[in-house]
Amino acid sequence: MTSRDEEKRQAAQRAIGYVEPGSVIGVGTGSTVAHFIDALGAIADHIHAAVSSSEQSTARLKQHGIRVIDLNAAGELAVYVDGADECDPRRRLIKGGGAALTREKIIAAASRTFVCMIDSSKRVDMLGKFPLPLEVIPMARDYVARQIAKRGGRPVWRENVVTDNGNWILDVHDWKIADPLALETELNQITGVVCVGLFAHRPADIVLIGDSVMT
Ligand code: A5P
Repeated sequence: MTSRDEEKRQAAQRAIGYVEPGSVIGVGTGSTVAHFIDALGAIADHIHAAVSSSEQSTARLKQHGIRVIDLNAAGELAVYVDGADECDPRRRLIKGGGAALTREKIIAAASRTFVCMIDSSKRVDMLGKFPLPLEVIPMARDYVARQIAKRGGRPVWRENVVTDNGNWILDVHDWKIADPLALETELNQITGVVCVGLFAHRPADIVLIGDSVMT
């Protein structure tokens, strides 16, 4: 295991401490979340169920005997646990490297506390080195790409990837994101954009880096 993997595993283990007994837990997507689900398996009897952000996580949760329920049947969740691709000092994130950003953002919005687990390489002063994922309606791909180019970004279509919602992903390179709140608001206005992988309006509440909490 590399040191980054080890930090992800440590953060996932620490995140278990935020899981409330008897609750429905929101579960994100990715390699860090895979560690979290494996740790959750050990306490599967102590939780009621999970709400999952992807088919990938759903399959892993079920392998561990954890019941997966629809968000519409769960009401407000106490805790959502997920990874991220970048995190700035105000706990604002870039997410979507695993193409699950839309469902992740919905569950984060529906949760009181968002616990984010990262390795230390993902901590940045300014978001934007990691290409910003946008989920787009397939027929709008070229239109959205032109709108992004007008704003100075370099959109690259993530070919051969279809999201769980049947949509496509554009990864926007070469953007230094000085004002994440304003950019998230602006990109949300482009017709054909389903979801922006910027989590600025709904940042993480707690960020775990390896076995420590970000301060
Ligand atoms: C999934 O769409 C993403 O938002 C992930 O949370 C993010 O890509 C982090 O992934 P890893 O945990 O695999 O690094």
